[in-house]
Amino acid sequence: MEVIHISAECYPVAKAGGLGDVVGALPKYQSQAGDYAKVVMPMYRTKFLYENDWITDFKGQTNMGNWFFEYTVIKEKTNKLGFDLYLIDIHGLTDREKIYGYDDDVERFTAFQIAFVNWLSTWEHKPDVIHCHDHHTALIPFMLQHCYQYRWMNDIPTVVTIHNAQYQGWMGWDKNYYIPAYDTWKSGLLEWAGTINPLASGIKCAWKVTTVSWSYLEELRSAANGLEALFEYEKGKCTGILNGIDYDVWNPQTDAMLNGKYTIKSVAAGKKKNKQAICKQFGLDANKPLTVFIGRLVGEKAADILPDAIAASIYGTDGAMNFFVLGSGDPAVEDRLRDLNNHFPHLYNSFIGYDEVLSHKLYAAADFLLMPSRVEPCGLNQMYAMRYGTVPMVRSTGGLIDTVVDMGDPDGFGIRFNHASVGDIVYSVQRAVSVYNDKKHMLWMRQHMMKLDHSWEGAVQQYRFMYQSLK
Ligand code: ADP
Ligand code: GLC
Repeated sequence: MEVIHISAECYPVAKAGGLGDVVGALPKYQSQAGDYAKVVMPMYRTKFLYENDWITDFKGQTNMGNWFFEYTVIKEKTNKLGFDLYLIDIHGLTDREKIYGYDDDVERFTAFQIAFVNWLSTWEHKPDVIHCHDHHTALIPFMLQHCYQYRWMNDIPTVVTIHNAQYQGWMGWDKNYYIPAYDTWKSGLLEWAGTINPLASGIKCAWKVTTVSWSYLEELRSAANGLEALFEYEKGKCTGILNGIDYDVWNPQTDAMLNGKYTIKSVAAGKKKNKQAICKQFGLDANKPLTVFIGRLVGEKAADILPDAIAASIYGTDGAMNFFVLGSGDPAVEDRLRDLNNHFPHLYNSFIGYDEVLSHKLYAAADFLLMPSRVEPCGLNQMYAMRYGTVPMVRSTGGLIDTVVDMGDPDGFGIRFNHASVGDIVYSVQRAVSVYNDKKHMLWMRQHMMKLDHSWEGAVQQYRFMYQSLK
């Protein structure tokens, strides 16, 4: 099976969140399982680009509307990531430091998709599957089926995986001319609620659609940022496949980023050592339990309620719990979280920014990981936490439902709550403080979580099964 993953992110080349982790790992495990998986992404100016060797694979030219452009496809020379990695460079559009957040993101990702399809049309063979991730690549199924220049490739099966349906890539109909010429009778396949909606188009045109957990797929039929009716209508082609995590990267026994490695057996001592180091570095009290939040500071993650929830939890437990936040995002939330440092020294601290190494240290140091997410299609953080023996404290939504069992249920090991509210968080923190004081129970939960299987193996088999059904 030759599978081409096409994505805006891929760790460690470029990552903004979980999409990068997934596209950096799934193809590697697919290749190990005997498939031939490749990744194609835009060429940003990242460290990975400058630190690795590349060969020029192809140079082409095409157009987006009346703008003619040249593109170059480069390939990483050594198969360093365990799969063939291709970057498409479109001078002036892709070659920037950040992945997202520019005014011309629509132009950047549309041109990237056009360049990909144009390059694909020069191949001497057709791959078995084109696997698109999120809205940045979701126009490809439409282009392959309906654009005059490319529709001879309409027998190549396409899969769209939805990592997050909150973002859909909306563009006005005034940009219709960007899309390579197509039969306008088919324009309904691009449309949703008066705009060109790339994610909706991907759902309509892909052969199969997957979401990154089962519960998220269920939720999308009633809460999908406007696409609910489409998910209901297309439910026959949708499947939930839960993400795995990359055990080569996330393993407390081998993780060189930690302040001390540990195994299931040595988890209590190992975590203590890591906690002491973090508490020392950030002025916290190592004798108290530590709850951390790691993530994008946006509404989906309920980051806006964190300042109030942390303050109320500190009062609500008489200062029995430490808190630490690592994140970046909404500047107003960043400011409020920074400001809290002054009010609760020795009990709360934060690092506002993106720091991969610190995130590893925190998963290892923390006793609890807080995820009050309003929307969580899968969530990788809770799985990293479990792998490091850290108890997830999560709102019951999406992938968090599918991966965390409340400690009140048989064999439960986590803390679940229903609302992204200050009250639910305070109550959960109180539960955390009391279980933390029950050393035996705490050790059982840690060891139980570390034994759970969140490897990619299962998902790789499910994707293969799905690809085979498309033949
Ligand atoms: P999402 O993709 O919605 O952001 P996930 O839980 O799937 O959520 O993945 C988030 C990933 O990004 C995890 O690998 C997490 O450790 C990482 N991450 C998020 N924010 C930061 C940050 N500020 N510093 C380091 N890593 C971060
Ligand atoms: C998205 C989701 C997150 C998921 C990740 C990887 O960014 O927000 O829940 O884990 O994609 O699939």
